[in-house]
Amino acid sequence: MKSVKGFQKLKDEGQKITMTTCYDYWSAQIINESNIDAVLVGDSTAMVMHGFETTVNATIEMMTFHTAAVRRGLKDKFLIADMPFLAHKKGREYLVQAVEALFKAGAQAVKIEGGTEIADDVNFLVKSGIPVMGHLGLTPQSVNQFGGFKIQGKSQEKAEEIINSAKALEEAGCFAIVLEMVPASLAKSVTEALNIPTIGIGAGKFTSGQILVLQDLLGLTKAFSPKFLRKYLNGYEVILNSLNQYANDVCSMKFPEEKESF
Ligand code: KIV
Repeated sequence: MKSVKGFQKLKDEGQKITMTTCYDYWSAQIINESNIDAVLVGDSTAMVMHGFETTVNATIEMMTFHTAAVRRGLKDKFLIADMPFLAHKKGREYLVQAVEALFKAGAQAVKIEGGTEIADDVNFLVKSGIPVMGHLGLTPQSVNQFGGFKIQGKSQEKAEEIINSAKALEEAGCFAIVLEMVPASLAKSVTEALNIPTIGIGAGKFTSGQILVLQDLLGLTKAFSPKFLRKYLNGYEVILNSLNQYANDVCSMKFPEEKESF
């Protein structure tokens, strides 16, 4: 998928939308050749790539730096970048500058966490020609308010709040909404209530598409094994074993051999 129009097209054709995160040039090159539809430079980079405890530490400089690296490797796919913590709370001028920096780095859309309360900001950006993706449920930038990375929308009241927020974001012009860590039944209700697609993570199978963090699906984040995650590779072990084999080969003078020497 090369443009934002692809999201609605896939939904309207009844096809699932596949997404992953990406933060760097070399994995972007691999994703570019894959069947993944679109890519998110998530603010999860603060945790996955920089070792912070939460995404609160992501900055616009960090997001721009990673977006530019991904864009250099991701020639043929739609690229969305996360707006970092509080970026839309610093006034319209800051918001515009932040979006401009992300777009100049190669983003084609931005994702913003929040519900009804950010609908005006979303509408302002959409009217300025910026495609915006919403993000509801477990919005990790609010982890301190939630008291941890916990499933959201379990009570009737909270579920209704999420459905109303989803409608408000669609009304404001979002082209799609990420639903993170909500019950599958709620994700189904939200998806049925909207015309725009929903992209789930820990939200069951009834969303219009799915997103997983690249390092999680490749099994590179050793300690992270939430219920919703399927690891398609034991990447941590594969890399660790390869490094140990290399170190052993060097120490036992099995590497380099004559054919690997000049
Ligand atoms: O930052 C991120 O990686 C995300 C996805 C998990 C949706 O927001």
